[in-house]
This record gives sequence, C-alpha cells and structure tokens, in this order.
Amino acid sequence: MGGVHWLAVADGTVVGHVSVVPRILEADGAPIVTGYVEAVAVHPDWQRRGIGSRLMTESAQHVADTYALGALGTGEQPFYERLGWERWHGPTFERTADGDVRTADDDDGVMVLRVPASPPLSLRERLSCDWRPGDSW
Ligand SMILES: CC(C)(COP(=O)(O)OP(=O)(O)OC[C@H]1O[C@@H](n2cnc3c(N)ncnc32)[C@H](O)[C@@H]1OP(=O)(O)O)[C@@H](O)C(=O)NCCC(=O)NCCS
Repeated sequence: MGGVHWLAVADGTVVGHVSVVPRILEADGAPIVTGYVEAVAVHPDWQRRGIGSRLMTESAQHVADTYALGALGTGEQPFYERLGWERWHGPTFERTADGDVRTADDDDGVMVLRVPASPPLSLRERLSCDWRPGDSW
C-alpha cells in the first residue's frame, strides 16, 4: 500500500514488481526512517534474466536517496545478499498499542541495506517495526 512502485514491462505485460514504503524502524529504541521493500516478484517465465536484480538496484537507489536504511523480510536471503543486503541478527518486535510484541518467526528473514545516511549499527540490536495490518515484516 502506498509508497513507490517499479514495474518491469515486457511486450506490454507487467512481468516484475517491487515497491518501497516508508516505515519507522527502531534499533535499540532509536528511530530510523526506513524504506521498506515489499512485493518483490518476477513472473516465473521471466526469472533468472536479471529483472529482479534490476528492480532491486533501482529501488535501492531510491532508498539511498530518501531514507536512512533499507529493510525487508524474506525467505530468499541469498538473492538479496548478492546485492549488498545484510541479515539482521538481533531479536525483532512489532510496536503495537499493547506494547512491543516479539516476532521471533521473522528473525531469520529480516534484512537491511545500509545507505550513506545510516546510523552505526551492529545488526544485533533489538529491532522493532511500526504496527500495520497484515504481515509485520
Ligand atoms: C526472487 C526473484 C524476485 C528473483 O528475480 P529474478 O529476476 O529471477 O532474479 P535475477 O535474474 O536478477 O537473479 C540474479 C541472480 O540472483 C540469484 N537468484 C535469483 N533468484 C534466486 C533465489 N530465489 N534464491 C537465491 N538466489 C537467487 C542467482 O544467483 C541469479 O543469478 P543466476 O541466474 O545467474 O544464477 C524471483 O525468483 C521471484 O519472483 N521469486 C518468487 C517471489 C519471491 O520469492 N519474491 C521474493 C520474496 S521476498
């Protein structure tokens, strides 16, 4: 929902997508204005041709120009590691009206992209995201 979207189009058909939405992450309580990367997908017939990498490169430039950190949640960590993304090693939480709720199932999937405006991070801090409907991360 919202944010900036990139579409890969071939022969008039959308074959790939990525979006970046604004979120506030907190690392050990310190807020970081973050570009959160979502809905990364390339049509199966068009995978392994560099489209996903191109979409990520374009959106990463936007993150670097606009935000103090990139973040995403994934089960495809190797794809993102090639592009400079790093795995988060600290515990993750979602900030809700009832307080912080642990999101242990997401710990392994959270990755970040450091950009020039990023604060110093060990990647072992306690990391929380703002509440939203649907998936936390
Ligand atoms: C993950 C995905 C977006 C990659 O898009 P793509 O256009 O196929 O990626 P690229 O062609 O740019 O891949 C470049 C390299 O990334 C690596 N790579 C691609 N997909 C990968 C995957 N699923 N896991 C690990 N590495 C992957 C490969 O090294 C690949 O190079 P190679 O083809 O020479 O081996 C695509 O496979 C996809 O849409 N998958 C289903 C949806 C999904 O999992 N989205 C991510 C959810 S967070």
